[in-house]
Amino acid sequence: MTGLAGSHPALLQMRGIEKRFPGIIALHQVTFDVAPGEVHCLLGQNGAGKSTLIKVLAGVHQPNAGRIVFDGQDVDFSSPDDAIKAGIGTMYQELDLVESLTVAENIFLGHEQTRGGFSSRKSEQSKARELLARLGHPEISPDMEVGELSAAGQQIVSMARALSREVKLIIMDEPSAVLDSEEVANLFDTVRTLTANGVAVIYISHRLEEIRMIGDRITVLKDGTAAASNLLVSETPNAELIRYMTGRTISSIFPPVRSLDERTPPVLEVKDLVIAPGHQPISFSVRAGEILGLAGLVGSGRSEILGAVYGSTKAVSGSVAVDGKKIRSGSTVAAVNAGMGLCPEERKSQALLLDDTLIANFTLPSIGRFATAGFTDGAREYRASMEQIEKLELRPADPRREARTLSGGNQQKIVLGRWLSHGCRVLLLDEPTRGVDVGARSEIYQLVSELAGSGIAIIVVSSELEEVLGLCHQVLVVSEQRIVHRAPAGELSEHQILDLVMEGSTL
Ligand SMILES: Nc1ncnc2c1ncn2[C@@H]1O[C@H](COP(=O)(O)OP(=O)(O)OP(=O)(O)O)[C@@H](O)[C@H]1O
Ligand SMILES: [Mg+2]
Repeated sequence: MTGLAGSHPALLQMRGIEKRFPGIIALHQVTFDVAPGEVHCLLGQNGAGKSTLIKVLAGVHQPNAGRIVFDGQDVDFSSPDDAIKAGIGTMYQELDLVESLTVAENIFLGHEQTRGGFSSRKSEQSKARELLARLGHPEISPDMEVGELSAAGQQIVSMARALSREVKLIIMDEPSAVLDSEEVANLFDTVRTLTANGVAVIYISHRLEEIRMIGDRITVLKDGTAAASNLLVSETPNAELIRYMTGRTISSIFPPVRSLDERTPPVLEVKDLVIAPGHQPISFSVRAGEILGLAGLVGSGRSEILGAVYGSTKAVSGSVAVDGKKIRSGSTVAAVNAGMGLCPEERKSQALLLDDTLIANFTLPSIGRFATAGFTDGAREYRASMEQIEKLELRPADPRREARTLSGGNQQKIVLGRWLSHGCRVLLLDEPTRGVDVGARSEIYQLVSELAGSGIAIIVVSSELEEVLGLCHQVLVVSEQRIVHRAPAGELSEHQILDLVMEGSTL
């Protein structure tokens, strides 16, 4: 272990940081130190203040009180530019790339490469290519429009941008939330190279196993205050971290898998579905009360399968039926009318009304239920939303708040909550706990299990093998747009799935 405080003077000292938003104290008297060359992990439940703390450091927010010393200087960043110039690179949780610009343009935005006073597209391109190759992604072309990239691809570009300047400290706010295990391994290689060169990293993640792999020290935030500071990763067991984060002891985050009656008829039947020309036909069914997991790498075709089942893409051939009735292919309206609900992977772009209140977000798919003779019933909507908020343990519990101002994990719970209030027969969940903290995750698993218990058929797409195995009855392993294996979750291990995925992708 290198670069811990004590042996080095701190690179960063934040003292008594205070940040208030209207009606909320997001940070209270927070003290936080980072040593050169260390990976300092910030842990905490959704809404604990992690992103707010790093935004104060990155010059996005100005603190109401407190002092920041960086690299021996008292600093007072009034804009993100000031922080960048001081040597702080940031990968934000909600990516801030310009979708209509190319990869290279995004990487060098604000510090365009010049040669003899003229901007040099060529040198930008070659530097971008070099950075992307270093990050293990030579296939991302500098000329591509960022909007065409997947969420994981965009994350890589954001990382390349943070690395495109000289940095002393790099902040990563939940970078692994959209990456699969191979990409996380690439990311960690990059982190190790950086720290070996004395660069410090602030790493935010809800995945404790990642913290074990990459972290040196940990600071835990709880409700805007530092519940524990400078814990050594090597000396702090998970149970202790969870206790600091949640204030309680959680023995298992998964509810017991409910037993299924083999005679229950299927609710969802997918027969010989060909998703795109040249693909193999896919068939499977899901019974009432059953949770089916789709495991595989990002890009293996799991989300495409969901898309074709839900009708957001039109299948080449084959059929999808709910309760024995075939659904018109390529029509999400027909799918929703037949009782299907989808919680998409990219909750921000596809599922949330960010500028609207929680009430509007909760009532969106079921607006008819609250309308009496054309008028919406405000008091009933409010009550129904409040019930959802309590059920999902959303923080803060205010139905009139804009979705945008909630933390990432709480936003995910809203998307899920919308379908809970809709009442559906088949629920499709794409990465349901991405960016959701340990406490909230176990609440979401409980909800999913209860929904299944009430007779809903559920499909879960997840990159977390632990989640697929802990939550589902059956697992389909998907690789290269094909189902390469199917088995009860109880008969599979994480290792077996990884082997199957790797074999499948080399066939
Ligand atoms: N711009 C804002 N306006 C008002 N409130 C905000 C704003 N940004 C954050 N908050 C509030 O500050 C608190 C801390 O939020 P923050 O985003 O820092 O949490 P977090 O620890 O990063 O959570 P997550 O793990 O879900 O990303 C939350 O209650 C959030 O609703
Ligand atoms: Mg956050």
